[in-house]
Amino acid sequence: MSLIILGLETSCDETAVGVVRDGVLLSNVMSSQVDEHARFGGVVPEVAARAHVEAIRSLTHRALRDAGIHQLDLDAVAATRGPGLAGALMVGFSYGKALAWALGKPFIGIDHMEGHLFAPTLEHSRFEPPAIVLLASGGHSQIVHARAWGDYEVIGATIDDAAGEAFDKVARFLGLGFPGGPAIDLAAEGGDPAAIEFPRALPDRPTDLSFSGLKTAVVTYVRRHHAIGDLPPLADVAAAVQEAIVDVLVTKTMNAVGRTGVPVVAGGGGVLANRRLRKRLAEACVERGVTLFLPSPALCTDNGAMVAAAGAFRVQRGERTPADAEVDPSLRLGS
Ligand code: KG4
Ligand code: ZN
Repeated sequence: MSLIILGLETSCDETAVGVVRDGVLLSNVMSSQVDEHARFGGVVPEVAARAHVEAIRSLTHRALRDAGIHQLDLDAVAATRGPGLAGALMVGFSYGKALAWALGKPFIGIDHMEGHLFAPTLEHSRFEPPAIVLLASGGHSQIVHARAWGDYEVIGATIDDAAGEAFDKVARFLGLGFPGGPAIDLAAEGGDPAAIEFPRALPDRPTDLSFSGLKTAVVTYVRRHHAIGDLPPLADVAAAVQEAIVDVLVTKTMNAVGRTGVPVVAGGGGVLANRRLRKRLAEACVERGVTLFLPSPALCTDNGAMVAAAGAFRVQRGERTPADAEVDPSLRLGS
């Protein structure tokens, strides 16, 4: 059965809407609030919710227009139910429910992380579980064993900060602005990743991650070396920090491959847009004879099409989210 579905994503600081028809991306538009949050150095929940309210209607119209369809052509509507900021989530979730109700079509609430899991399908029709999926974003860092669609086991996770959070915190300390991931990615260009050896945490826990110690290590290193006047160039510091994060993500993802014997790796979440991470993952997968499916950078960061893709799977399985359902800011994959 053919299915055209609209996906709404408002869990954090991007209002994003996408339309997908039978697994094919028809449109994917977003309105980033980065400038509004940048002056605070991070996402302000109240500001995010208000900006979503202002953007969501016109953005939905734009997504439909770009897709070349009318809203009456939609067969279903999907929206992120969690995890994320409660007030921000409520905007897309309520708007999606209301739109579906007005159209008389099914509505489905989606786990944001399952959205990231589905993102590779939009460009790689061959991608399907079983797979080891590295999900790394501003709020989460997990290594997931996707046994089948809808059947996920989290086999490793961060015990403190997320990888994106580590990028953001270090970038703020280095005065590189917000969001920090893209800033460090850029600042590291031409830098020597081996210039400084920052710590790699939890070497004895094959698939678990930890990033809270990294920022402290960077702060200590920079202050000490600045004081004695031998601080390496910013590009070296950025490249070394990036390498410490990337190294751990790649090593632990490949550990998960070794442990499960699953020969397919995929990735999702904003951190997977990182150029060094993409390169190192690709090299590790070639070396191990493992197939890698990465979304292009624009589909790694938060977007509506990934929510639509996950929604299509669930609607086609006959799932529906009732009209009285609420958002779940602490939703966990597999729960
Ligand atoms: O998935 P995402 O767009 O939103 C969340 O669900 O959190 O991820 C955002 C995170 C931020 O921490 C941002 O700094 C990071 O992804 N990020 C990157 C890059 N682009 C975005 N981190 C490293 N390198 C990048 N190029
Ligand atoms: Zn995300």
